[in-house]
Amino acid sequence: MIRIAREEDVDNIVALEAECMPHPWVRDDIRSLITDDKKIAVAAEEDGLIAGYVGASFVLDEAEIGNICVSSAYRRRGIAAALLRELEKELRSQGVTVIFLEVENTNTGAIALYEREGFAMYNKRKDYYGQGKDALLYRKDIA
Ligand SMILES: CC(C)(COP(=O)(O)OP(=O)(O)OC[C@H]1O[C@@H](n2cnc3c(N)ncnc32)[C@H](O)[C@@H]1OP(=O)(O)O)[C@@H](O)C(=O)NCCC(=O)NCCS
Repeated sequence: MIRIAREEDVDNIVALEAECMPHPWVRDDIRSLITDDKKIAVAAEEDGLIAGYVGASFVLDEAEIGNICVSSAYRRRGIAAALLRELEKELRSQGVTVIFLEVENTNTGAIALYEREGFAMYNKRKDYYGQGKDALLYRKDIA
C-alpha cells in the first residue's frame, strides 16, 4: 500500500535508511519530512512494514527529492516507481510544477529508475562525490 508517511513510521524509516544508504539520514531529518508542511514523505507499506519511502521538500513551484530507498527484499517489484508517482501526484496538488533530484553516476539502478519515470539529466557536477563519482542533476516537469 502506497500512502503518506505518518509519525509512527519514523522508526521504520530510520531502519530502512540504515539498511539502504551509506550515509543515512538522522532521525530528526526523517521526522521533519513528516512534520514540516513544506516537506513530504510517501511510504510503501508491505506486510505491516515500511518496505520503501521517498522524501522531498518543496518551495513554491519547485520540489527536490532528498531520498528514495526500498528494502533489498522488496526491490524490482515496482515499489520505487509507485512511490515516485504518488509523490508526483501529491506535489502537483501542492502547486509544484518541477521536481529536481541528484544521483551519483555509479548508481545505475537509480538512474534507470529515474529515466524510466521521465526524469531528464540537465547538468553534471564532476567528481562531486570523489574522483570519478559525478553528481548527475535530473529534473522532471510535472505541470
Ligand atoms: C533505486 C531503488 C530505490 C529502486 O527501487 P525498486 O523498488 O527496486 O525500483 P522499481 O522496482 O520500482 O524499478 C522500476 C524500474 O527502474 C529500473 N531499475 C530499478 N532498479 C534497477 C536496478 N538495480 N538495475 C537496473 N534497473 C533498475 C528498472 O527499469 C525497473 O523496472 P523493471 O524492474 O521492470 O526492469 C532501490 O534499488 C534502492 O533503494 N537502492 C538503494 C538506495 C538508492 O540508491 N537510492 C537512490 C539514491 S539517489
